[in-house]
Amino acid sequence: MNTGGQMELYGEQKTEHSGLGGGAEPIISIRNLVKIYKTKKVRFRALGGVDLDIWPGEFVAVVGTSGSGKSTLLNLAAGLEKPTAGKIFIREKPIHKMKEDDLVEFRLNHVGFIFQNFNLMDTLTTLENAAFPLMLRGMPPLKREKQAKAVLSGLGLSGHLAHDPDELSGGQQQRVSIARAIITKPEILFADEPTGNLDSETAEQIMEVLREIVRENGTTLLMVTHDMEKARYADRIVHIADGEITRIEERGEWQ
Ligand SMILES: Nc1ncnc2c1ncn2[C@@H]1O[C@H](COP(=O)(O)OP(=O)(O)OP(=O)(O)O)[C@@H](O)[C@H]1O
Ligand SMILES: [Mg+2]
Repeated sequence: MNTGGQMELYGEQKTEHSGLGGGAEPIISIRNLVKIYKTKKVRFRALGGVDLDIWPGEFVAVVGTSGSGKSTLLNLAAGLEKPTAGKIFIREKPIHKMKEDDLVEFRLNHVGFIFQNFNLMDTLTTLENAAFPLMLRGMPPLKREKQAKAVLSGLGLSGHLAHDPDELSGGQQQRVSIARAIITKPEILFADEPTGNLDSETAEQIMEVLREIVRENGTTLLMVTHDMEKARYADRIVHIADGEITRIEERGEWQ
């Protein structure tokens, strides 16, 4: 598959891969993160004090069974939810302290999201969905469409620009959502079960696309999944159970 278009777009901001440490600062730093959900009847500790550093250009997979706290960890790291206690720094910015307005700005300009169910807008075409974050930034239509076309071409979607999401296959829809996630050239991508709704062959192709984005562009990727096969695409695998990290595997330990 040709992913050249999006790589070109990214060229100017390529960052050094730090390896694991090498003196560089972590891009995401999580300290003693606790999340307690309180409902009318129950109080549930979804995260029980998580510490994790993620380095620039690293692909980290968080794996665990259903209910282990994976999505909670991702949502907190991305500033989509507030922690009960603990700290999250992204490039030394304290996400846990940010007000909603600043979080909206942060999400629009610094991170991209990829979800299991694609979350595309069903009234928008492929081109419009991919260009949507640029529209939110106030970029004029012709300019944003040009950029979206380049990214979509890199993801093999040039022939489907005018399709609505329901006229695309699952794999194509996920490519559109990847295009939308990377169009603002974010430093960090967050992905929650990005291949959960795809057949195994399509899922592998999407994993290859994600790994290539990390390798070629120096993007940091935090992905959660219950599937070890998908986790093995990562540089590091963080195992989580009952809201706590139980083990961290480095690439090389499983390949
Ligand atoms: N809004 C909420 N209110 C109450 N409890 C919640 C809420 N969100 C999550 N939980 C609980 O927190 C725990 C962790 O949920 P989380 O969604 O992080 O799991 P997960 O590892 O992503 O699971 P899955 O693989 O099924 O997506 C679960 O037991 C869940 O019931
Ligand atoms: Mg989940």
